[in-house]
Amino acid sequence: MRRLQRIETSLPHPMYAWPKVFGLLRPTACAFVIFLGRYVPWPGVKNAMLRGLGCRIGPFAAVGLGATFDIFRPDLISVGTGAIIGYNVTILTHEFRPDGVYVGPVEIGDGALIGANATVLAGVRIGAGAQVGAGAVVAGDIPDGGRAFGVPARVVEEARDSWRSTPTGHSIRRSRKASSWRRRPT
Ligand SMILES: CC(C)(COP(=O)(O)OP(=O)(O)OC[C@H]1O[C@@H](n2cnc3c(N)ncnc32)[C@H](O)[C@@H]1OP(=O)(O)O)[C@@H](O)C(=O)NCCC(=O)NCCS
Repeated sequence: MRRLQRIETSLPHPMYAWPKVFGLLRPTACAFVIFLGRYVPWPGVKNAMLRGLGCRIGPFAAVGLGATFDIFRPDLISVGTGAIIGYNVTILTHEFRPDGVYVGPVEIGDGALIGANATVLAGVRIGAGAQVGAGAVVAGDIPDGGRAFGVPARVVEEARDSWRSTPTGHSIRRSRKASSWRRRPT
């Protein structure tokens, strides 16, 4: 179940009246920074830009080219230490619907991987060390160390009791099948 909150509005077409719902200036400024950031190749610079909008971005998190964060409520997005957000990933914290506007936080845990072109819907938590396959649509929580693929993303493997350390020394649970963390030849 996603953590969504409905914003009460009497507007018949909320998407046409987004300034009344979210204000005019802040989303406009966020849109400018976020769309500029899509083309910034330096992770540190991009992280600073996103933090400036209120996103919580952990150390060594990396956001790929073309990734788009929600322009209305970027402050509801948190990305954990060492997490990887792939090319063209979309992270939403709002959704306009015929019956109104909903918002919800998105939490991406330490060391998680969101594959290229995935879409993360508002109100979900992606656990530490979880992996989301490229092209997936995340419409529900993914547990720590879980792997999820497809549309909607289905968890194909539960958390396993194995751990790895991030560059900052955090220990995060990982999936045993995660090929990127298999032991490298010495
Ligand atoms: C999550 C990911 C890393 C998993 O890779 P992996 O551990 O090598 O997984 P495998 O290739 O062994 O695939 C395991 C199973 O999942 C399936 N699978 C892999 N990726 C999938 C995807 N994106 N969507 C649906 N199914 C997928 C495979 O077909 C395989 O199924 P099978 O067991 O029935 O044969 C990979 O799917 C992925 O998304 N890579 C992109 C990473 C990325 O975008 N990084 C940031 C930008 S560089």
